[in-house]
Amino acid sequence: MSNSKIKSTRARRVWDSRGRPTVEVEITLRYGATGRAIAPAGASVGTGEALDLRDGGKAFGGFGVETAIDAVNGEIAGLLKGRVATDQAAIDKALIALDGTANKSRLGGNALIATSLACAHAGAASERLPLWRYLATSAGIEEPKYLPLPEVQIFGGGVHAGGRVDIQDFMVIATGAASFAQALEWTADVYRAAGQLMADDGKLQGVADEGGFWPAFERNEEALETLVRAIEAAGLEPGRDMAISLDLAASEFGGKGKYKLIRDGRELNSDDWSGQLVDWIERYPIVSVEDPLAEGDKEGMVRFTWAVGKKVQVVGDDFLVTGAERIRAAARDGACNAVLIKPNQAGTLTETKAALDAATKAGFGAIVSARSGETEDTSIVHLGVGWGITQLKVGSITRGERTAKWNEGLRIAEAISEDDDKDGPLPPVSAFPWAR
Ligand code: PGA
Ligand code: ZN
Repeated sequence: MSNSKIKSTRARRVWDSRGRPTVEVEITLRYGATGRAIAPAGASVGTGEALDLRDGGKAFGGFGVETAIDAVNGEIAGLLKGRVATDQAAIDKALIALDGTANKSRLGGNALIATSLACAHAGAASERLPLWRYLATSAGIEEPKYLPLPEVQIFGGGVHAGGRVDIQDFMVIATGAASFAQALEWTADVYRAAGQLMADDGKLQGVADEGGFWPAFERNEEALETLVRAIEAAGLEPGRDMAISLDLAASEFGGKGKYKLIRDGRELNSDDWSGQLVDWIERYPIVSVEDPLAEGDKEGMVRFTWAVGKKVQVVGDDFLVTGAERIRAAARDGACNAVLIKPNQAGTLTETKAALDAATKAGFGAIVSARSGETEDTSIVHLGVGWGITQLKVGSITRGERTAKWNEGLRIAEAISEDDDKDGPLPPVSAFPWAR
């Protein structure tokens, strides 16, 4: 293992898909292997997340990351020098202790996740393994068998589109696809069809933060109607080949028992808002609903899960913030039946894995996810394959920071497929909460 000892750790400022600075960490091992990773950044951020440390002030609109970079180049580099990169758990534990805060606010969640992931990349390089295989081996999984099923944005809204519609993500899931590659093919067909429909209706206005079409709709429901039309226009059967998935990101327009739908000109209490969602679930082929209620509305989340959790996937993102303890509590309370796994919400790879393990133990589904502020970093795809996570969410099927992930999935698909099938097998249907 001496060849996986860390020689140097350095951070640099790079750019994300919103034109904001972010942290890249590069770790070099004694005998030359290197690993590199970049921290992503959210816009609809849960209050329980590891803190994305920004400098404030005038430079970079307050989004500077010099403090986080200095932390990596100083304290963190000192801490890691001479440590064994393949001992991820010990490294993450030391990083957490060095930071010393509950929300990683001293050194920065961005500094920590980039370091933790760079360490995994360096460890994989030292063993001459692709990251997905290295992660699988480290987790005691002999041979990853499938690619995660893609969940792909067609319209972006909420804080990713200036509040143009209240709902943040209108997505599709190719529930009938036979492979990872086919899921992407069908999704691209739907994306193009949706663009054509919007152009025909005079509503094409560019794209939102994650590459989905800018939602020039009069009502939230108009987006659902257009999505069904787009699936049909692509020659697919809604609900069989291709289903709808929503991320409401409800904390952005709701809280304290009130949900304010600006686009629909309505203010609803928790029960009535839930009722509205149940109505949509009955009338549209929706299989997954993320953050349906605000993160503080636990009772609402429990009631909603009780009402529809047998039929659809109820995903906690801001509500669970990739936290093992929160997942266990939600399972006890009967809130949610699936979790979004975002490494930068947890802050280290080890904590991310602990959240996934808690989800698996609770019988929850899991979706490994990118953020709205992204880069060319593809680590999450490797986590998905290596750890056997059954679903993957990275935004739309356009924009380089998104296609970087889908295309990495296609490359890995070739490596894990049988010789006669290079398309990437998908998890068994029984792996998905909506099919149980
Ligand atoms: P975020 O959006 O990265 O802005 O939090 C993604 C999501 O809510 O899933
Ligand atoms: Zn979300």
